[in-house]
Amino acid sequence: MKRLRRLRVNETMRSLVRETKIQVSELVYPIFVMDGENIKNLIPSMPGIHQFSIDRLNEELERIVQSGISGILIFGIPQHKDEEGSGAYDDNGITQRAIRYIKEKYPKLLIIADVCLCEYTSHGHCGIIKNGRVLNDETLPLLAKAAVSLAKAGADIIAPSDMMDGRVKAIREELDGNGFFEIAIMAYSAKYSSGYYAPFREAAHSAPGFGDRKTYQMDYANGREAILEVEADLEEGADIVMVKPALAYLDVIKGVADSFDCPVAAYNVSGEYSMVKAAAANGWVDEKKIVMENITAIKRAGARIIITYHALDIAGWLKEA
Ligand code: PBG
Ligand code: ZN
Repeated sequence: MKRLRRLRVNETMRSLVRETKIQVSELVYPIFVMDGENIKNLIPSMPGIHQFSIDRLNEELERIVQSGISGILIFGIPQHKDEEGSGAYDDNGITQRAIRYIKEKYPKLLIIADVCLCEYTSHGHCGIIKNGRVLNDETLPLLAKAAVSLAKAGADIIAPSDMMDGRVKAIREELDGNGFFEIAIMAYSAKYSSGYYAPFREAAHSAPGFGDRKTYQMDYANGREAILEVEADLEEGADIVMVKPALAYLDVIKGVADSFDCPVAAYNVSGEYSMVKAAAANGWVDEKKIVMENITAIKRAGARIIITYHALDIAGWLKEA
């Protein structure tokens, strides 16, 4: 008789035949860096996650490097915002200064720099605004300028999250034109307009001041369209493509991973994190069990790189095991 239970008799046997295993080197940990001094602010909607000023970053970086996590995804929160988001491409901007500091202290840690304007614009949108509309082509040179400025500061990977059409091409050309041939692009290719970003927008002070992001981020009802977005970004020169959010989009991750041979990243976003933390804090679920199940599901769907606020906890649990 066919007995599928034979391979489940004990943990050693299960481990032998396990299809999906999480490795700490596949994890990326997002960090929020703020202008100012002596800042370590807990983000209320994201228990365990803080905003740091550069002078307080070291305690967090030390933990990250010890954990074996490969990289950090860095978000800067500037003091000053304007219509054009000029802080995003200021060589002395908060993100650029933070990257210079991190690169000098921990040269082996991969620094992934999110490129977008929304943290830096007074209106909170990811592009330039005219007559209440987010302009596409006028935004591209600014994103390209930001990418070069972040590469100059020491970023290893540039990660555009704005969802303007043509931004990967614009960024690749500007990077190459400035001699940064070896700086990789991780494109937020299939980024959906999602309610799951709410805690992040509190953390990064990047909520849109009017309207929403539906004219540039994807409609969550569309799965096949993700293939078109990924195709375009790969043609334009993306090295790694991303699906975001992750858990409500496992079908999209699978579709992309099955269709393309490049590394696929998935972003387990703030709202997905906060929901688990809230349920665990209430004793309704076991945090470790739920997180490992969620992260394994994301990898099983086809993601090779997982960006998650749980990364440090996962690294700790993997060491315990
Ligand atoms: C900026 C950006 C966002 C996230 C990453 N980069 C927010 C947004 O698009 O509004 C979300 C990350 C998260 O929720 O953890 N464009
Ligand atoms: Zn943005």
